[in-house]
Amino acid sequence: MVRCVIVKDSEVIAEGYHMKYGSNHAEINALEDLNKNNNISEAEFRQLTLYCTLEPCCHHGKTGPCTDAIIKSGIKKVVIGIKDPNPKVSGSGIKQLEDNGIEVLFGFFEEELIELNKHFFFKNTYNRPYIAVKIASSADGMSHRKDNTFTWITSEQSRDNVQIVRAGFDAILTGGNTLRNDNPRMNARVDFEVNQPQKILLTSQEINKESNFFKSGDVIINRSSDLNKVITELSNTEINSILVEAGPNLVNAFLDNDLVDEIIIYKSNITLGDEGVSWFENKTIESLGFDLKSSFKINDDSKETYLKTP
Ligand SMILES: NC(=O)c1ccc[n+]([C@@H]2O[C@H](COP(=O)([O-])OP(=O)(O)OC[C@H]3O[C@@H](n4cnc5c(N)ncnc54)[C@H](OP(=O)(O)O)[C@@H]3O)[C@@H](O)[C@H]2O)c1
Repeated sequence: MVRCVIVKDSEVIAEGYHMKYGSNHAEINALEDLNKNNNISEAEFRQLTLYCTLEPCCHHGKTGPCTDAIIKSGIKKVVIGIKDPNPKVSGSGIKQLEDNGIEVLFGFFEEELIELNKHFFFKNTYNRPYIAVKIASSADGMSHRKDNTFTWITSEQSRDNVQIVRAGFDAILTGGNTLRNDNPRMNARVDFEVNQPQKILLTSQEINKESNFFKSGDVIINRSSDLNKVITELSNTEINSILVEAGPNLVNAFLDNDLVDEIIIYKSNITLGDEGVSWFENKTIESLGFDLKSSFKINDDSKETYLKTP
């Protein structure tokens, strides 16, 4: 999430943001907005200041380098929130601007900007995607019924909220058992434009490709049960974040491998008692090494988000 504004005499005269992966970067959109809406002479360009939240790129990715476009525009001052952690850029964008006679200031609101693009900064810092686990739980900590008869645990409103959470992740990962028992779709059913998350299935078995999971989007199938190996392979893709939506076996395997950064729990007020399969047996989320970050009500359910204790 990157935004750019162009300022003349303390007034914003053009702006742009990065609308979606693979499309124009914020700086390009702001420069296009500037050319569309203003009659600015070449001399006036020198008096403009371009502000952008992230260091402009200087490499050829899905789009051309933003530094080239800024240099070409004639703008002589650039203010940058934070350096791009991507090793292909990290400081080189700033250097390229400076080498072309542009005054560059950087390092503003860095904490807020890291939070804004948490998954992107995480991947570039730790060389693996950010991994969140989303679970629905009964009031007594159960995941599903022992006999696998399927009923929703949480309310429709909670499930609508899950759709928005999904839209914020690059990928959704599940296991073969969940696919066989629940036949889920696991896409982001939201009423705004979204890059649908990449679906990832971990299974050692032959899978029915007619199931709902395969009805939209590509599916990456990984046959390995070595989760570190799976995540290392996924780290070499453009996936910055993964939402694990699986049952207790796979979720606990992720936890045992220390591969979980966030746990999101939708908890209902129903109990399953002896009929249920427990999420974490006698353990609490806190004892697993997570701290409560936020909690709120969704009708009779609650949504709690826990982050790994630093
Ligand atoms: N309440 C909730 O939020 C929620 C969410 C999802 C699912 N569920 C419930 O959970 C039940 C299934 O739970 P589950 O955990 O057994 O199924 P799962 O989510 O499918 O995960 C286990 C499966 O993942 C695959 N797998 C690959 N590597 C693994 C590893 N290292 N460790 C463990 N599994 C690995 C295996 O698939 P193969 O057997 O195909 O090789 C394994 O059977 C379902 O009945 C479903 O209703 C509840």
